[in-house]
Amino acid sequence: MKYIMKGGNPLAGEVVISGAKNAALGILAAAVMADDDVVIDNLPDVRDINVMLDAIDSIGVLVKRVNRHKVILNGSNIRTVHVDNEFIRRMRAGYYLIGALLGKYRHAEVAVPGGCNIGSRPIDQHLKGFAAIGAHTSVEYGMIIADAKRLTGGHVYLDMVSVGATINVMLAASLAEGRTIIENAAKEPHVVDVANMLNSMGADIKGAGTDVIRIRGVQRLHGTEYSIIPDQIEAGTFMFGAALTRGDVTVKNIIPKHMEAISSKLMEMGCEVVEFDDSIRVVGRPRLHSCNVKTLPYPGFPTDMQPQMGAALCLADGTGIITESIYEDRFKYVSELTKMGAQIKVEGDVAVVTGVERLTGAELVAPDLRAGAALVLAGLAADGFTTVDEIQYIQRGYEEFDKKLRGLGAEIEMVSDSREAQKFRLKAG
Ligand code: EPZ
Repeated sequence: MKYIMKGGNPLAGEVVISGAKNAALGILAAAVMADDDVVIDNLPDVRDINVMLDAIDSIGVLVKRVNRHKVILNGSNIRTVHVDNEFIRRMRAGYYLIGALLGKYRHAEVAVPGGCNIGSRPIDQHLKGFAAIGAHTSVEYGMIIADAKRLTGGHVYLDMVSVGATINVMLAASLAEGRTIIENAAKEPHVVDVANMLNSMGADIKGAGTDVIRIRGVQRLHGTEYSIIPDQIEAGTFMFGAALTRGDVTVKNIIPKHMEAISSKLMEMGCEVVEFDDSIRVVGRPRLHSCNVKTLPYPGFPTDMQPQMGAALCLADGTGIITESIYEDRFKYVSELTKMGAQIKVEGDVAVVTGVERLTGAELVAPDLRAGAALVLAGLAADGFTTVDEIQYIQRGYEEFDKKLRGLGAEIEMVSDSREAQKFRLKAG
């Protein structure tokens, strides 16, 4: 499947943001730790979530889909702690099932995670955290095995700020004996959301959102009803869409506080950004100013917004420098943008982007999730037709991306073959 689009229309109107994928992945894992019903609402209907639900179902958790965005999970009849679902190897967050199952059953076997190819993505910090609370871990035959006779609270200092390791240790430590302290913890909104969800199940977690998290283990976690926070990155992507296409977009159902790093960069680039209680309006300008940006853990500028920023800088006035400090291989989209006439030089973790007057349509391939979304934004801002192939990456994390964009006036369609693409070209003229 590909997206085909005709660029040139400024995005305009309102778009409702879905639940946060990366919070939802941790929350689904947390849900299996209870033996009662756990009701989860505002779940995004995206591929990574559906793969995770499938993995959870495969170990015996009862998964009842109430509607597109709401599920009821019941983990009282889990029959195996071995998760070797064919899908789990292709996604990242399957590793949260290690923390969840280790906490609940003191043993877990989960396939080594896959996910977007944006760097080497080791999991040593997760394992360090599990070791600190008394678990023995090993990797055998492509499986991560974690085992503990007793899980006892411990002290873990993360060598780097890791969202995944912070959430994973929080999960397991919630059901350990005694107190666990995570230092240099990640502060991302989704870390806080998973902690809130666990607390609503009876866990005792304090300090999520700061760099020291304290967890007092409890004996059991009970059922709950929980609604997931809005997706910061989906919202940021549409905000950048407004900037790139010189549009006027209001992103709705968001938490403006989570958007501060993104909003302030857009203002620096000359956009008008107006904050409301649960929405933000972004009004583009005829020519963006360029700026420099370095990706950092929250509350810094998110690495998951780096490609969208890269696309915007292509059309800005002047030269901007992007420093990617989280992942070593997150500039794969650059070679695609150069097919559109962009001027970008990459050296190591730095990209130097010299703005051009216009981009022109080209045939592109999405290298990963966020890069794929950024290429679509570039296509909507470019002259003529652009196709973006390998959109299964985009579908991992964006719910109905094309439909939401059409709602804002974009001419974009999902097509499965060249005949459909030709039909779109003729219709769009
Ligand atoms: C999460 O990945 C997100 N994924 C990523 O989103 C996001 O890019 C990333 O956090 C950073 O914000 C999910 O939540 C499922 P990390 P995660 O552990 O948890 C290094 C998207 O597009 N590290 O915070 O895997 C690591 O290599 C995806 O939605 C270790 O060295 O990221 C990286 O350089 C892509 N050892 C840095 O830390 C470890 O044990 C941060 O990684 C763990 C991480």
